[in-house]
Amino acid sequence: MIKAWYHVSGDKVSSILRSALQVLQKAGLETYPLNPKALSGPGLVFFSAADAGLYDFLKEVSRSGFERVLAVTLAPLLSAQSTAWNLLKAGASDLISLDLLLARPESVTARFARWQHIDEAIHSPLIKNAIVGSSFSWISVLRLIVEVAQFTDADVLLEGETGTGKEVLARLLHNLDPRPDKGELVVLDCTTIVPELSGSEFFGHERGAFTGAVNARNGAFALADGGTLFLDEIGCMSAAMQSKFLRVLEDKVIERLGSEKGIPVDVRIISATNIDFAKEIKAGKFRQDLFYRLNVIPLQLIPLRERKDDIPLFVQYFLDKFNKELNKKIKGLSAAALGQLTAYDWPGNVRELQNLLERLVVLADGETIEEIDLPLPGGFNAATATGGGTLKASLLEHEKAVIMKVLAENGNNRSLAAKALGLPRSTFCSRLESLGLS
Ligand SMILES: Nc1ncnc2c1ncn2[C@@H]1O[C@H](COP(=O)(O)OP(=O)(O)OP(=O)(O)O)[C@@H](O)[C@H]1O
Ligand SMILES: [Mg+2]
Repeated sequence: MIKAWYHVSGDKVSSILRSALQVLQKAGLETYPLNPKALSGPGLVFFSAADAGLYDFLKEVSRSGFERVLAVTLAPLLSAQSTAWNLLKAGASDLISLDLLLARPESVTARFARWQHIDEAIHSPLIKNAIVGSSFSWISVLRLIVEVAQFTDADVLLEGETGTGKEVLARLLHNLDPRPDKGELVVLDCTTIVPELSGSEFFGHERGAFTGAVNARNGAFALADGGTLFLDEIGCMSAAMQSKFLRVLEDKVIERLGSEKGIPVDVRIISATNIDFAKEIKAGKFRQDLFYRLNVIPLQLIPLRERKDDIPLFVQYFLDKFNKELNKKIKGLSAAALGQLTAYDWPGNVRELQNLLERLVVLADGETIEEIDLPLPGGFNAATATGGGTLKASLLEHEKAVIMKVLAENGNNRSLAAKALGLPRSTFCSRLESLGLS
């Protein structure tokens, strides 16, 4: 039996409410009056008027970001669409009319069962031990990932700045996917695909399909059959590939290069991008129809600077991780150092924070990290800048030094270096050229 609290906002308990609770009980949802001092888990609030009392209640209950509330209106319909929006904004997870509840109580029970299942998954070791974040925005994203993974086979588009955790979530979604005999997760970075070979990368080829095709080979779709294909930096897909790709998504059939035989495939597509799609579509660089096809479930990842509550959790997580890896015993950061981290803007998001903490753990000799030499926005560190010459010349020198350092850190791989710097590969390559580094 699923349990949920209930609360009545405004009117006194009426006989209709009692019958609603009985109907829910029969449909498998056991309700009990809310004890505000011991609030835990999801519940229902019944109301006849969307007044200040109701808004205050919703705000209070959903304050932690964890409790879910189904708002049940005793009026047959909410008079204005805007009221519904305002209730959702105030913290209601969903709205339903009493009539609908009485007509389909099992759908309410199913909703609570699903919420319970999702929140249990969020507290499971698979997520708790490897994924950091308890801010409301992050938990909302996680809930959607669990829901999409376990209750649908929908495709997902992850949009977010560099280092916000798109790949982390793509992997999690695949791991949570309960399909029996699930296939593999195949990751394809669209920035690294040579356009001439992209057909073969995606769909595979037959022996002799083109010069150099010595053996037949499976492409990403066939390798991910029954599983997930993660397409990173989807915005970099060539125009020719975009139209082929759209056809495959619609028909769910691929043809290897050099063959006309259709091979059915069943693949969940997760795509990721850190570019603004609206702009790319407007500029004619990305097909609108393909965008709609990929964007079945859109998920926006919030930059770290907009979920600063999570910074102390990340600090602890990465300190533990690097202490273990580097055999160190750093206990924590001074309040001043933590304050510096919270004040900083994190253009490279979680990846930047992770890299910084690794460096701090490597360099620290005490038990506590007292102060941090943070880069200024844009990665320029005044303390280490070399003077001399014009400002432009010294900025170019600095840019050169940063690029060379990042290239070296990434084994001279341009795609990885571009990614670490948060630049599209094409921009990165043109900077290399104009700085005389290519
Ligand atoms: N919520 C999180 N919990 C733990 N680690 C995280 C989290 N988010 C990001 N990371 C870590 O931060 C780094 C960057 O994450 P990820 O590669 O998923 O970012 P991304 O959005 O794919 O970035 P890019 O656009 O540059 O490819 C990884 O090392 C990842 O492990
Ligand atoms: Mg990524």
